[in-house]
Amino acid sequence: MPQATPWPYPRWIAHRGAGKLAPENTLAAFRLGASHGYRMFECDVKLSSDGVPFLLHDATLTRTTNAVDKLGLNSRAAAGDHPWGTLAQLDAGSWHSRAFAGEPLPTLEAIARYCLRNAYFLNIEIKPTPGLERHTGDVVARHTARLWQNAAVPPLLSSFDVTALEAAMQVQPELPRGLLLDALWPGWLETALRLGCVTIICDHALWDQSSMAQAKSAGFKTLSYTVNDEATARRLLDLGLDGIITDRVDLFTPASL
Ligand code: G3P
Ligand code: MG
Repeated sequence: MPQATPWPYPRWIAHRGAGKLAPENTLAAFRLGASHGYRMFECDVKLSSDGVPFLLHDATLTRTTNAVDKLGLNSRAAAGDHPWGTLAQLDAGSWHSRAFAGEPLPTLEAIARYCLRNAYFLNIEIKPTPGLERHTGDVVARHTARLWQNAAVPPLLSSFDVTALEAAMQVQPELPRGLLLDALWPGWLETALRLGCVTIICDHALWDQSSMAQAKSAGFKTLSYTVNDEATARRLLDLGLDGIITDRVDLFTPASL
């Protein structure tokens, strides 16, 4: 059975801060999600070359920053090849719209301050630079434990990457973990049990009566990403889903659902 961790998290989780309404994985996105009533946020975290955990989805900086145009950085270079001092200069908002021009990449520490001051919940998706899976799981878990050491509710750590979750479990076993799945690969349930996960977070198309029954009967909370329409949300809630990660903070109002 998974460890008997209580489930203190809200049902509705804003994906990358506020989905597509603001530049993903920025503090501006969190603020926008919060303005729509969201109290829990998902974000993607990786490491700079000098070990600073920061928010970014992609392996490279090209899509969501001005790194190539303004700093002349190689578009194929991994974001994690750069030190934080370089990453901190980037504009992570202009690609989205002029209203967000100048929005910086946030560190995990900045997001921790924001969430702790507002009593918001966080789901940290560990999104390692390829090749740095173990190191990233280790460092992100250590920073999370330090930053939230006095918090009533710690962040939920999740990852598609089993090695990253293993590393997180080894260094900070007390932090709740979730296994992300984009396929029900052989051994998914046993792996989640072995990793001491409290939740399984599936692509919404993977949840049906069978997968839901297997996860629930093994003691897992069940979450889903990225649910952006009402029919899908209704289908999942009728199956007994416990949490929904959505881009559509403008469509789903947490207080009324
Ligand atoms: O954590 C759920 C979801 O964010 C996983 O997919 O690619 O949006 O990080 P992705
Ligand atoms: Mg994510």
